[in-house]
Amino acid sequence: MNRKLLPKDFIKMKRRGERIVMITAYTYYQARIADEAGVDGILVGDSLGMVIMGYQSTLPVSLREMLHHLKAVVNAKPRALIVADMPFLTYETSVEDAIRNCGKAVKLGADAVKLEGGEEVSDYVKALVKVGIPVMGHIGLNPQRYLIIGGYKLLGKRSKEAEKLIDDAKALEKAGAFSIVIENVAAEVAKLITEEVSIPTICIGAGPYCDGQILVFHDVVGLNPNPPPFAKKYLNAYELMRDAVSNYVSEVRRQEFPTSKYYRVMPKEELEDLLRAIKKKT
Ligand code: KIV
Repeated sequence: MNRKLLPKDFIKMKRRGERIVMITAYTYYQARIADEAGVDGILVGDSLGMVIMGYQSTLPVSLREMLHHLKAVVNAKPRALIVADMPFLTYETSVEDAIRNCGKAVKLGADAVKLEGGEEVSDYVKALVKVGIPVMGHIGLNPQRYLIIGGYKLLGKRSKEAEKLIDDAKALEKAGAFSIVIENVAAEVAKLITEEVSIPTICIGAGPYCDGQILVFHDVVGLNPNPPPFAKKYLNAYELMRDAVSNYVSEVRRQEFPTSKYYRVMPKEELEDLLRAIKKKT
């Protein structure tokens, strides 16, 4: 399929048993790389707090920062579905806040928004869908709640916890979400959720049984020196980029860059005229 992907296509993909592949992106070229590589969805994740801004968590990320990076991704005009991740306290305070803030992302070009939380955010999901904003849910480890959860730990190991996760997924489906991210959850629980709901589940650190997978761009290409244990590194971009910059530094210092390939010169006669003119003035 070459046309732009929309939320409904994710649901059709689940029905057809096609795997959904997502990655995060925060800049124009990351979005182009992801789209050329053939991903189905690009999440402008609030993980930008860590991998772009160097914050210690996603909590400080502002709506302004999110919209800034969303614009860069939208400018790449990807075929992939663009999902804007809503930052902490931009959607869970009132229906009005949720509609106003998520609306800003959609007006800027997002095809959908993502909210963290299960049953507790289902009223907001319902209100957003009612006004025409597609919503991706996000259950399991919600990084915006790491202070309450007690860190970035695996969830769903105990049956009561697993039951709550299944209820959360069902509440999101009922509220009209078109898909759900399941983060850092025991694989069997993610499998059960995937079987229980008709909307696609997208796993991160939750095993192979979901309808799709998502990873953070910097973890996939090896730009993050401390990736989470569930992320697979397909390239050593950090080392490759550091070595490239280091070569540049050495070449400038040794006067090996720029060589004649990298600069232009004046026509000889023009230069002679210029030198004569300068001499006349002195
Ligand atoms: O912000 C993010 O990158 C995310 C993914 C981890 C799903 O929410």
